[in-house]
Amino acid sequence: MNRQPLSAGNTHDYTYDNTYENPYVDYARMDALHGLAAPRTGARAELQFILISQVKELLFRMVHVEVDAARRELRADRPDAACRALGRGVRNQRVLIGCWESMNTLTVDEFLGFREVLGEASGTQSFMYRLLEFTLGNRGTSMVRSTDFEAFPELRAELDRPSLYDEALRWLARSGLPVPERLTTRDPSTPYEPDPAVETAWAAVYRDPDTHRAAHDLAEQLLEAAYQFSCWRATHLLVVERMLGAKPGTGGSDGAAWLRKINEHRFFPELWTMRSAL
Ligand code: HEM
Repeated sequence: MNRQPLSAGNTHDYTYDNTYENPYVDYARMDALHGLAAPRTGARAELQFILISQVKELLFRMVHVEVDAARRELRADRPDAACRALGRGVRNQRVLIGCWESMNTLTVDEFLGFREVLGEASGTQSFMYRLLEFTLGNRGTSMVRSTDFEAFPELRAELDRPSLYDEALRWLARSGLPVPERLTTRDPSTPYEPDPAVETAWAAVYRDPDTHRAAHDLAEQLLEAAYQFSCWRATHLLVVERMLGAKPGTGGSDGAAWLRKINEHRFFPELWTMRSAL
């Protein structure tokens, strides 16, 4: 008999005896999965907050896996396969955004009922979210603590690889579009700076989509991924206003005001700005 507590808090504190054979539970380690929710209060709302946060973390990973696959396909000159991977990532991004619906069932008083136990825990410390941002191409490190790089070496390793956007620009150049060499050979560990030459290259694709069909398809998938990411950020901001008003965040920022600045960032910036030139 090996009874595993399925929740360390006192809300719905089930146990599960994993000495009994159960192929479903054993295959995907459902007992371990449910054992991961450890509320610090007895509040039902806190259990929900933890569970939906865990669901989101898993979805960050699912989106990252597809973005990473898309990057590999581009490197191998397979833009169609890259678009399919991005398409799946985008569908998972939509699920991520849908998760805010669950968070929004918490009333402000219910949230404040357990907020104190979060201590300094904040989404800024999510290593999987940061890995996803780095892989897509947002490589600012100011919010990453040095200890997070130590704890999750994949983050540092990711900074040394060309991002998805770097690979997209390299592929555009190999396809004959005028992307300057300074961009295809740039140091991937430094933040990407928008470049007018890239804007011109994307604009050429949109002015003649039939000639540049593969590049146009890729541009649309990239834009959709960027759009969904910005929708996630925008909805997060609304949830934060709903829960905190103008109060500071647990991670030390001034809360909604800081997130409003973050909301201005766009992945694949020239895909947005070149629209003015069309
Ligand atoms: C009631 C729910 C939530 C509130 C009130 C909230 C609040 C905040 C605040 C105020 C910040 C700014 C940094 C700070 O000072 O902490 C932040 C950042 C962040 N939160 Fe949330 N959050 C909530 C739910 C979530 C969930 C469920 C996730 C995903 C698992 C999440 C992921 C993030 C991430 C990734 C950041 C960093 C954004 C960036 O650096 O670009 N948050 N959150």
